[in-house]
Amino acid sequence: MKLKIALLPGDGVGPEVTAQAVKALRTIADLGGLDFHFREYPVGGIAINATGSPLPSATLDACLESDAVLLGAVGAREYDSLPPASRPEAGLLVLRKALGGFANLRPAISHRAIADCSPLQSQIIAGTDILVVRELLGGLYFGEPRGFEKNDEGAKAAAFNTMRYSRPEIERVARIAFDQAMQRRRKVTSVDKANVLETSQLWREVVNEVAKDYPDVEIEHLYVDACAMHLMMTPRRFDVILTENLFGDILSDEAAVITGSLGMLPSATIGGNVDLYEPVHGSAPDIAGKNQANPIGAILSAAMLLRHTAGLDAEAAEIERAVWDVLKEGHRTLDLKPPVGSKALSTTEMGALIESALCDRISRSLAYHAV
Ligand code: NAD
Ligand code: IPM
Ligand code: MN
Repeated sequence: MKLKIALLPGDGVGPEVTAQAVKALRTIADLGGLDFHFREYPVGGIAINATGSPLPSATLDACLESDAVLLGAVGAREYDSLPPASRPEAGLLVLRKALGGFANLRPAISHRAIADCSPLQSQIIAGTDILVVRELLGGLYFGEPRGFEKNDEGAKAAAFNTMRYSRPEIERVARIAFDQAMQRRRKVTSVDKANVLETSQLWREVVNEVAKDYPDVEIEHLYVDACAMHLMMTPRRFDVILTENLFGDILSDEAAVITGSLGMLPSATIGGNVDLYEPVHGSAPDIAGKNQANPIGAILSAAMLLRHTAGLDAEAAEIERAVWDVLKEGHRTLDLKPPVGSKALSTTEMGALIESALCDRISRSLAYHAV
């Protein structure tokens, strides 16, 4: 099998964590006789510095010609005063729109190997396995009109954004959520603010219509404020959480508390022309350049790439198991709060341990199949 992967390491810890994800993918390719072709392109702040644009056309063209895109993170403090459309983050949003993926899958799993990493009590989180399905191309992020109103002196007097959802936009992401639920525990929690917002009322109506096609899936509706509370109090009640763009952005970071760190969470964006894989976290400027970032979110994103784009389910599962193997042995990066007396692993050390656990697993399974 041949796979052409565009690598967009981006800013801050992005290059540090994507390097470890690529190591895992190369291990799978080398040991499995697969042909993965990687090529790196600039996006975000480093692309602004090099070309003046957060998404140079050469990067976009290369992504559109690839089988999948693996992105690290974008964003840096030096651009904080720029308007939204000129910032590094705009590069990511234009890329998402161009690739067309509208369903952003963000799993958050409390594996027993990391139960001690969460600040939540282990009896609350044990067994939690949530998939947030976040609508990625609509809502406040892309709604028009948007902008600033200026006063006579040219200062910002007001600002506005538009939240808009059409029926087809809601329906297509709802179908993905129900399809995912059919492969899991068959429950969809649709999250909205239907007590206040028209977009949410339409969201609820369309989700209920789609639910009729999935009689085996239980559907519940929660307001986003209550959902935020239930996520911390009773996370096991959730299977698939289906929600719009901004609510999904916020709730998925909250779900990171269940795993102990934002650095643990991967994501896959599907449904468009080219699938996009990125950890949920950002460029983490506070720890960038220190070889401290947790690479697991990026490595698990690589596993999602194998599963969703390449159909390599067994290989994806081997990466995931290698991650749990290493965590079960007690290895921790700094964000996972290693117990007193044990040393935190660096990004590269964690990546190397996962690579070696992966090699062990694959050689064992090759040996098994040879007899
Ligand atoms: P962030 O996700 O970068 O960091 C939040 C906190 O989590 C920080 O304390 C950080 O150190 C920690 N953290 C994040 N990733 C980690 C990892 N892999 N290992 C260990 N700790 C980790 O969010 P922020 O600080 O709000 O934003 C920083 C920049 O990143 C901003 O410019 C923002 O717009 C951008 N951002 C980009 C993406 C993306 O590219 N997909 C996502 C979120 C934020
Ligand atoms: C994420 C990020 C992005 C988002 C930003 C950087 C545009 O927070 O991927 O979660 O809000 O979608
Ligand atoms: Mn986010």
